[in-house]
Amino acid sequence: MRLIVIGFGVVAQSFAKLLLSRSAELYSEHGIKPRIVACVDKGGCAISPAGLNLQRLLEAKKSKGTVAFYDKAGSKFDPMQIIENVDAEVVLEATPTNLEGGEPGMTHIISAMRTGKNIISVNKGPLALAFPSLMELANYNGVMFRFSGTVGGGTPILEFAKRCLKGDRITSFRGILNGTTNYILSKMEEGLTYDSALDDAKQKGYAEAIPSLDTDGYDAAAKLVIMANWIMGMKVTMKDVDRRGISDVKLSDVKKAKQNNSAIKLIAACNNKRLDVKPTEVPKIDPICVNGTLNAVSFSSEHSGQQTIIGRGAGGIETASAILRDLIEIRDHVFEHSN
Ligand SMILES: NC(=O)c1ccc[n+]([C@@H]2O[C@H](COP(=O)([O-])OP(=O)(O)OC[C@H]3O[C@@H](n4cnc5c(N)ncnc54)[C@H](OP(=O)(O)O)[C@@H]3O)[C@@H](O)[C@H]2O)c1
Repeated sequence: MRLIVIGFGVVAQSFAKLLLSRSAELYSEHGIKPRIVACVDKGGCAISPAGLNLQRLLEAKKSKGTVAFYDKAGSKFDPMQIIENVDAEVVLEATPTNLEGGEPGMTHIISAMRTGKNIISVNKGPLALAFPSLMELANYNGVMFRFSGTVGGGTPILEFAKRCLKGDRITSFRGILNGTTNYILSKMEEGLTYDSALDDAKQKGYAEAIPSLDTDGYDAAAKLVIMANWIMGMKVTMKDVDRRGISDVKLSDVKKAKQNNSAIKLIAACNNKRLDVKPTEVPKIDPICVNGTLNAVSFSSEHSGQQTIIGRGAGGIETASAILRDLIEIRDHVFEHSN
């Protein structure tokens, strides 16, 4: 499998390290030999049709700040030139999430689909803004579009609902989809004010450079949109979510909830085709009432009742494992259809 990697930050570098450490096992267990044939960041690109040496690629990024210095000359091609002109089966989109317009990821994904390449995206932006039309474009071009890492990091929330509950019908789901806000609310439960808890989250590296993406509920809303489309078959985008963040939650609200043996959580819910993100009082005995940066989602299904999945919702290596999951699925699909 030949891959083009667009964006070489925390997640994509973790993915390269994962490939280095698991290459023998990937071949023996799955018959898969992934080769990164091109990699692009803001500084330029590295290309090798035979497959880049990943150790050298990581070293170039670490020492020079860009993959362009993989070769002495440095290479300045941009992502679009690479996607359109380099032969590969899969494009990995790992540029920053932008929920206003979805760029640059949106253009990368559309261009990859139009040139017949399968897509793995860890970038939520394009999916949150245009899931139905991107899925249609993927089907029209006969390519696979996978995005496990966009929801739950390495925790297989999408797969759990889509595959493990396949024979059943999911009627609704609700959960905690953003680890940063959950960390802030957990710290408030310990007695910190909202501002001190936010500062603490920033210091620990949990909060984004623009914290409002988390605290105003945009990140949770984006994940809710992806889940509603993929799991419930809805055709929705960000504008269909009724969204409220946690910045108005007061320490007194948190204390009051605690007295009721409950906690305030930022809950994303899909119920009766309604999509909501809002601070909600959740009883401590509810399995989704998890603390710290954890994510948790409960699915209600017609026959098997309530099922809950809990796990870490972000992290470079965790998300890299989701990319590998998508890659194996694409490879199995390509193999099935070539025989
Ligand atoms: N980090 C996590 O735990 C996590 C978990 C799940 C999903 N995600 C999502 O995964 C994506 C990547 O996250 P990350 O943490 O790896 O981000 P990151 O460390 O900021 O890396 C982003 C990469 O994209 C590159 N880039 C930005 N604009 C570009 C452009 N126009 N053309 C080519 N490359 C461009 C950057 O280049 P430079 O290196 O030159 O700046 C950088 O290499 C994001 O959408 C994020 O929301 C992250």
